Amino acid sequence: MKTSIARKVLMALSGFFLITFLILHLIINLTSVLSPENYNIASHWMGTNPVIQFAMQPVLIFGVIFHLAMGIYLELKNNNARAVKYAMNKPSANASWVSRNMIYTGIMIFLFLGLHFYDFWIPEIVHKYVHFLPEDSTRYFHELQMKFQDPVRVGLYCVSFVFLGLHLLHGFQSAFQSVGFSHNRYTPLLKKLGNAFAMIMAFGFIFIALFHYVSQL
Ligand code: HEM
Repeated sequence: MKTSIARKVLMALSGFFLITFLILHLIINLTSVLSPENYNIASHWMGTNPVIQFAMQPVLIFGVIFHLAMGIYLELKNNNARAVKYAMNKPSANASWVSRNMIYTGIMIFLFLGLHFYDFWIPEIVHKYVHFLPEDSTRYFHELQMKFQDPVRVGLYCVSFVFLGLHLLHGFQSAFQSVGFSHNRYTPLLKKLGNAFAMIMAFGFIFIALFHYVSQL
């Protein structure tokens, strides 16, 4: 029992960490809409900063994999425990659709990350650490735009961002609950904040993808 609570807390902590990453990622990517020059400056700085490259980046990758692996583990354990109880209790009456389908929305996000890494992260690693190409601080905006010319890819990205929004709709407030935060007045507020956060993330990323697609038509 104790270890399963500890696992839920770790799941929540890795969730908080990924939420922080998402906020930063959205802000940096929004600069690509507002000012290509600033986007290039920010990307160049992040892409060449040794602390970000060799400390933060591995921690982030670990955080993503940990969150997925722990999510699958907790889901499998819950399924075993629920098999008996749910024969009597109708699950749909007890929990919302999003909260019951966190594992599926999570897996969709993970599949998106496969495509996303293929698009951006792998070429970046190959550019810098395999071919050791000379650094051109103005290349980033152009590289970003190239990826948003294909309507199928833009469509896949947008559908994935809907899954991200659904995942956060439950995940944000659930993370606070898992670390033991519960308050008569603030918990309902936190739920509202979570809903707003999920919407901002989903629509924010969709806006960026559509903006680059439409601006190149
Ligand atoms: C339109 C939306 C998005 C754009 C334009 C975008 C753009 C980028 C770019 C350019 C990189 C490469 C950074 C680098 O290594 O130089 C990147 C990396 C990454 N993106 Fe996104 N991204 C978007 C949405 C998302 C979403 C929704 C997620 C999470 C669900 C995500 C997760 C990541 C992760 C984990 C990395 C690897 C970070 C690293 O270590 O460099 N991205 N993204």
